[in-house]
Amino acid sequence: MSGTSLDSIDAALVSFECDGPSLLATHSLALPAELKAQILALNSPGANEIEQLAELDPLLGCYFAEAVNQLLNKSGTDKQQITALGSHGQTLRHRPEKGYSLQIGDPNVIAERTGITTVADFRRRDLAAGGQGAPLVPAFHRHCFHSKQHDRVIVNIGGMANLTLLPADPHAEVIGYDTGPGNVLIDSWALEHTGQPFDHDGQWATSGILLPTLLDFYLEEPFFSAAYPKSTGRELFNADWVNTQIKRLHGPVRPKDVQHTLTELTAITLANAIKQHRLSSAEIFLCGGGSHNRFLRQRLSAHLQTEVQTTQALGLDPDWVEACAFAWLAYRTLQKQSGNLVAVTGAAGERILGGIYTA
Ligand SMILES: Nc1ncnc2c1ncn2[C@@H]1O[C@H](COP(=O)(O)OP(=O)(O)O)[C@@H](O)[C@H]1O
Ligand SMILES: [Mg+2]
Repeated sequence: MSGTSLDSIDAALVSFECDGPSLLATHSLALPAELKAQILALNSPGANEIEQLAELDPLLGCYFAEAVNQLLNKSGTDKQQITALGSHGQTLRHRPEKGYSLQIGDPNVIAERTGITTVADFRRRDLAAGGQGAPLVPAFHRHCFHSKQHDRVIVNIGGMANLTLLPADPHAEVIGYDTGPGNVLIDSWALEHTGQPFDHDGQWATSGILLPTLLDFYLEEPFFSAAYPKSTGRELFNADWVNTQIKRLHGPVRPKDVQHTLTELTAITLANAIKQHRLSSAEIFLCGGGSHNRFLRQRLSAHLQTEVQTTQALGLDPDWVEACAFAWLAYRTLQKQSGNLVAVTGAAGERILGGIYTA
């Protein structure tokens, strides 16, 4: 798994025996700064893109394979014990409205270098069926976190934020969609103004104050009020998007106040999305790296007027939910079972996702 945050490649060893999942071992491989810069450059239009993309595709496949091989070494696992590997791919452009989502990290290379059957390219079958191709984690959230006693909301705060509504009623539809930015804006603002890749525990944001006019400008973004199914990425939520609204203030701003406001933006857009579904007594569980941002968590809790926990309370480490989800999606593919939820992606039907690259 490597998400929009570009913080690391996360490899999880997961067992689905006895219905699972049980998380057996984990390993994170940091993306080298140069590679991160190359990926970021390809996230927006530029010169000589085809050549750069073509080169980066197998190179990233090597890194994904390396993350897996290191995980196996570290955990003393023989590759013969592994049924398959699921690779999310690194997203370069996600434009479901145009029918595509471009993800790289060549699965041929991964299969070759690990000697493990690789399942990848999960989004495009859903896109071909008219869906958004994302988010794909909600089916996994339902599999692991559904409760017959309580309505639950699973909130994944990665680079982008997405939620999954799990009504206790087993006949009620499971809804899930991207709510907008998760960490991506607060990360890039922190990097630009503090040199740090992220705002540890939200401490810098806490030192600033809310800029209410700026928050209102941000909230004018049509994506926030658009009906689901919806999904998004860096092509919308990026530094330009942040700066365009700051310019409308026609005056100096303190960077820490912008950080506070951007963190509030993630919290309020998530809270507004959750509130519109009127699951007033739902239990809220966070996962993804943003679940460590204490200020963000406090603000979300304040808006929802309820306690928010992490998926640790449900037995799965919040940092590893998404990686486990793609192991599970690979498992589903090999079982010839669907991985998408129609109510989430808007596809014409449930589909077996991904391509299989045999060991
Ligand atoms: N202690 C922390 N405090 C604040 N933010 C954190 C902390 N730990 C991780 N994060 C955030 O989590 C992000 C990584 O989250 P992740 O779930 O891996 O997202 P993605 O799926 O986009 O890679 C980091 O970029 C950072 O913004
Ligand atoms: Mg990550």
